[in-house]
Amino acid sequence: MRSEDAADEPSEALATTMTFEGRGPGAQTQDGCSVEVYRRTRYAGELDGIQAQFPAGATVLELGCGTGLLTHRLLDWGCQVTGVDNSAEMLAHVSDRVRRVQADIQSLALRERFDVVLLPSGLINHGDPAVRRTFLAAARRHVAPGGRLILYCHDAHWLRTATVGVVGQSGDWLLTLRKVTRTRTDGEERVHMVLAYTMGDDTWTHAFCAAPLDAPALATLLVESGFDAPVALDARQRWFSALPALRSGLDAV
Ligand SMILES: C[S@@+](CC[C@H](N)C(=O)[O-])C[C@H]1O[C@@H](n2cnc3c(N)ncnc32)[C@H](O)[C@@H]1O
Repeated sequence: MRSEDAADEPSEALATTMTFEGRGPGAQTQDGCSVEVYRRTRYAGELDGIQAQFPAGATVLELGCGTGLLTHRLLDWGCQVTGVDNSAEMLAHVSDRVRRVQADIQSLALRERFDVVLLPSGLINHGDPAVRRTFLAAARRHVAPGGRLILYCHDAHWLRTATVGVVGQSGDWLLTLRKVTRTRTDGEERVHMVLAYTMGDDTWTHAFCAAPLDAPALATLLVESGFDAPVALDARQRWFSALPALRSGLDAV
């Protein structure tokens, strides 16, 4: 049976609940990413437009590094990278030139500070606001005074408007939105999606829940988490930089 057949499709309920689930050949992470999808994906220039944020010699903490797609480019640029992920299967594909840490971002406590903390891949868009705040608290604990947080935020307009169908082709991948449901509870906007990644005869699905974050919402979240208001680094306003706000207590260690 081909892997895109019904048995591998997340159930209808997955498109309406706060569910993170991956299906398809190989291992999946707790947040529903398929290791094989990331292992087969090539670096597509994601960081090239913001390379200046990662000067040679900088210490970089990458939260949710996966198989090292971005990590390995940072290494090429001469950064000293620590990659964190809670998936051992993902970390197994990261170069041993990277300091690899298997841990939940929420509880990370490395007792050191970094020039740059990188929160990529739309992790900031997690559908649970409490999780968003714990990710930023972890970033704040690990950013050096004078350092900065660099984060990637998903396109809020796309999350609010995307419809079921082909999303696009990226390299050898065909990306299809199989299900989408939008909810608003107590003012909290959530988008439940099932995305399918197809390469040749193989398909992986990823069910997840994301929150669209406009620039003001992102700024509020960052300021509440001990950062200054973020600055967009690219014209599409997906990459942001935020400096730690120097408040008493947070930088005492
Ligand atoms: C969408 S993938 C992106 C991987 C990589 N940044 C890239 O661009 O290819 C997200 C990664 O973050 C990891 N992750 C998600 N939530 C996490 C958490 N709470 N703690 C640790 N790792 C997490 C997942 O295991 C997965 O490898």
